[in-house]
Amino acid sequence: MKVLVTGGCGFLGSHVCEFYIKRGAEVISYDNMTKHELERTEFAAEAARNYNWDYLKKIGVSLIKADIRNHQELLGNAQGCDYIVHTAAQPAMTISWEDPHLDLSTNVIGTFNVLETARKLKVPVASCATVHVYGNRINETLKEGSRRYIREPEGIDEGHPILEGTLTPLHASKSAADFYVKTYADTYGVEAASFRLTGIYGARQFGGEDHGWVANFSIRSVLGRPITIFGSGKQVRDIIYATDVCEAFDAFYKARRPGIYNIGGGPATATSLIECIDMLEKINGGRPDVRFAADRHGDLRYFICDISKAKTRLGWSPKVMPEEGISSLVGWIRENRPFFIGDDK
Ligand SMILES: NC(=O)c1ccc[n+]([C@@H]2O[C@H](COP(=O)([O-])OP(=O)(O)OC[C@H]3O[C@@H](n4cnc5c(N)ncnc54)[C@H](O)[C@@H]3O)[C@@H](O)[C@H]2O)c1
Repeated sequence: MKVLVTGGCGFLGSHVCEFYIKRGAEVISYDNMTKHELERTEFAAEAARNYNWDYLKKIGVSLIKADIRNHQELLGNAQGCDYIVHTAAQPAMTISWEDPHLDLSTNVIGTFNVLETARKLKVPVASCATVHVYGNRINETLKEGSRRYIREPEGIDEGHPILEGTLTPLHASKSAADFYVKTYADTYGVEAASFRLTGIYGARQFGGEDHGWVANFSIRSVLGRPITIFGSGKQVRDIIYATDVCEAFDAFYKARRPGIYNIGGGPATATSLIECIDMLEKINGGRPDVRFAADRHGDLRYFICDISKAKTRLGWSPKVMPEEGISSLVGWIRENRPFFIGDDK
C-alpha cells in the first residue's frame, strides 16, 4: 500500500505517516513546511518546524517539500498511490482573519486540488474538516456549570445545522472544503470523506495560543510559564488523541463509505479548559499560573461529538482517555524541552 499524506510534517499528518509506516506501507509526506502559527509562539520556531521532518525521515517516510496549491506538482507526486489523507491546512481561526487570502487559497483551493488528484487517480481520500463548520450559535444553547458549559443533549451529530452564528474566514474556508468533499463524492463518485474533527492532541504537537490548546497548556505547565485562558475557561471539547484519528482514517479506507463524519472522543473524553488545567496539576504535581483574557471573536464554547455515525458506518471507536493521552503528551514535552525554549528567529 502507498499512502500520500498532505501536511505530513504537521502534527496530525506526522501521526498518519507513522501509523502507515508501522503497518508496512510506503508513505509520502507532501508538505510546504510553512506552519505559520509557529512564528507566533515562543518556541524555537525553525527547530520546531523541522522536528517532524527529521522524525519522519528517520522512520522511513519519503519527504516532499511542495504546496497543495500547485495541482500539477501534487498530481505528479501522487502517482501510484492507493490512498490520500489530506491534513494540510491553514488551521487557526486567528490567522484566518489576519490573512484571509492565505486561509482561502490553502483550505479551499488546496482541498480542491487534492480532490481533483483523487478523481484523476481514482483513489479514496480522507479530508480533515473541523467542528467549527457548525458555527458558534451553539453558544446560545448552553447552561453555565461551575467548571464547564453544559448542553442537553450532550452529543451533536452531523445533522446539526452548519454555519450558524458569527462567522470568520476559517468557518467559510473549512466549510467550503467540506462541501467540495461531498460534491466530489456525489458528482464524480470519488470515495471521499470529510472528517469534522474536534480538539486533537498528542506528541509532536507544537501547540500555541492560536491552535492546539491541550498541547499549549501542557507545554506551558511543564516549562512553568503562565497560561492565558481566553474567556471563562468553561469551554468544552471531547478531546481526542491523534492515533485515534488515524484509526478513523484507516477505518474509512477499509469500509469505503463516503460521507461526513464527526470525529471526537464523545462525552467520555469531554474536558473543559479548567478541567484540563486540573488534570495537568495532577500530572505535574503543581498548578500552573493561569491568567484570564477576553473571549476571542468566533470562539465556539462547546462541542461534544455524537460519534454514532462513525461507529456504525466505519466500525470505529476512540480508545485513548484524556488522563492517559495527556500524560503521554507531557512525557514527550519533557523529553524535548530545548525545542520549546529560546527564540531562533
Ligand atoms: N489540531 C486540532 O486540534 C484540529 C482540530 C480540528 C481540525 N483540525 C484539522 O486537522 C488538520 C491537521 O491539523 P494539524 O493540527 O495537524 O495542523 P498543523 O498546522 O500541525 O499541520 C498542517 C500542515 O500543513 C502544512 N501546510 C500548510 N499549508 C500547506 C500548503 N499550502 N501545502 C502543503 N502543506 C501545507 C503545514 O506546513 C503543516 O505541516 C487541519 O485540516 C486542521 O484544520 C485540527
